[in-house]
Amino acid sequence: MAQETVVLTGDRPTGPLHIGHYVGSLANRLALQNKYKQYVMIADVQALTDNFEHPDKVRKNVLQVGLDYLAVGLDPEKTTIFIQSMIPQIAELTMFYLNLVTVSRLERNPTVKTEIKQRGFEKSLPAGFLMYPVSQAADITVVKGTLVPVGEDQLPMIEQTNEIVRSFNRIYKTNVLPEAKALIAKTSRLPGTDGSAKMSKSEGNAIFLSDSPDEVKKKVMSMYTDPNHLRVEDPGCVEGNVVFTYLDLFDPDQKEVAALKEQYQSGGLGDVLLKKRLIDVMEAFISPIRTRRQELEKDPNYVMNVLLDGTKKTLHVAEQTMYDVRRVMKLDYT
Ligand code: TRP
Repeated sequence: MAQETVVLTGDRPTGPLHIGHYVGSLANRLALQNKYKQYVMIADVQALTDNFEHPDKVRKNVLQVGLDYLAVGLDPEKTTIFIQSMIPQIAELTMFYLNLVTVSRLERNPTVKTEIKQRGFEKSLPAGFLMYPVSQAADITVVKGTLVPVGEDQLPMIEQTNEIVRSFNRIYKTNVLPEAKALIAKTSRLPGTDGSAKMSKSEGNAIFLSDSPDEVKKKVMSMYTDPNHLRVEDPGCVEGNVVFTYLDLFDPDQKEVAALKEQYQSGGLGDVLLKKRLIDVMEAFISPIRTRRQELEKDPNYVMNVLLDGTKKTLHVAEQTMYDVRRVMKLDYT
């Protein structure tokens, strides 16, 4: 029988989602929900691996991320949204998988390596943080996920998941766990408004899906362009110019964008004019999302119920997976 495609992804609830999340994975998820069975997980357990001292922050952002999901158009009829900590089978699988990986393999995971540096964890590394890729393998396999739409920084996680899946299937002489494929977006690394390589909440260079018109305007007006483009009549550089990067992605009139690039490069097009266009473009994109979000914010119980319903559905599937796993691991005592 051909393997059924099951989509599983997630986000850490450490803040509201931004347009980098949108181009990096939300856009793919919106398309995938019409084709496949899709699970989207709010990764509160993973968020705690580096926020264990800030439970309020994680708790608050579970709702914020849920709001973002529904506001961009994830449809609970098509996408099962669930809360990671409410699926104990994920913790159970993590425990079993930990026997199948070595500490040195985890220490070589490039994404974890970078994150350890960013967080200053070199001196005292929480064991839970080092092993979160194992927990991520459990996230994916607990629903037998086969397709994972994420940004390219997550590739090492999928690779590590598949190593665990192969070890598991080999050791327990089974094929109950499927391997997963990453689906990487064309632009999976959106630069920040300051021109740095990646948009990130912690860098203060993000445009959030929930930003007000004023915030959008302020952020675009202070955006990084071409530092050598001082006078309107000077020729300007398009490459690395964040305003053009965003216009490429969000402006529906790409013919006009091409014409503007030409004019900018030959001189005679000022940054302010260009930024005014981008403000309109971003506003046209964000405004319907913001409106839906504000409607949903009035009824947080509805949003929580969507998450709890999705969690209930996921629990059912997770228990089926555990039945298979316990059987091949000879843990099926009853
Ligand atoms: N690590 C992902 C991130 O930081 C979030 C995540 C947790 C995830 N579990 C997942 C993504 C499983 C895909 C599949 O963005």
